[in-house]
Amino acid sequence: MIMGPSGCGKTTLLSVISTLLDPDSGTCVVLGRDLARMTPLERARFRCATVGFVFQRFNLLPGVSILDNVTVPLLIGGHSRNHAESRAVKILDELGLRDRTSASPNELSGGQQQRVAIARALVHNPKLIVCDEPTSALDQTTGQMVMETLHAQARQTDRAVIVVTHDARIMNYADRIVRMEDGAIISCNDAVELEMPS
Ligand SMILES: Nc1ncnc2c1ncn2[C@@H]1O[C@H](COP(=O)(O)OP(=O)(O)O)[C@@H](O)[C@H]1O
Ligand SMILES: [Mg+2]
Repeated sequence: MIMGPSGCGKTTLLSVISTLLDPDSGTCVVLGRDLARMTPLERARFRCATVGFVFQRFNLLPGVSILDNVTVPLLIGGHSRNHAESRAVKILDELGLRDRTSASPNELSGGQQQRVAIARALVHNPKLIVCDEPTSALDQTTGQMVMETLHAQARQTDRAVIVVTHDARIMNYADRIVRMEDGAIISCNDAVELEMPS
């Protein structure tokens, strides 16, 4: 979990880690890969295959069904529509949204939309799941449900979940808390030693 006040650079750091933003200086090693040593195409492939995103405001495609929203990462990754849809239905089912697959995002509550966003982030089985303030638009109960889902993901082998937040209510879900201030990491508190995949 990455915590810090608004404007301290959390989203910027998350964007660098997830290869959406190139740093001007410094090194960023993600899952053993030095991002600066990769070509833009390699970074795009790495992002497509390895990273799942959960955004603060869900960022679902409006006017497109829940099912179609969740298939996007697989279709971008070159999978067939058949495979993408059966995988999307499975993950939506796991997240309790099976009966909403043909709904459009604006027909769902905030908590349901965030669960769709999580389904979309998980559908291609990414090793790294990055979440930018995933509970900030949610009430307490729904926020906890979302964090339980993310925590269960983090407990799977070969998975890392990074959650950026300034929501102190969800701190208990963290295994490691990184604190930031004014664009810098000021502390890193390990609850457990995490193994980096080679
Ligand atoms: N595209 C940008 N260009 C220049 N400065 C930016 C840009 N995006 C954010 N900033 C600035 O960088 C700092 C960190 O922003 P951000 O990473 O969004 O913080 P946080 O997510 O912790 O609220 C802020 O001062 C913000 O105004
Ligand atoms: Mg931010």
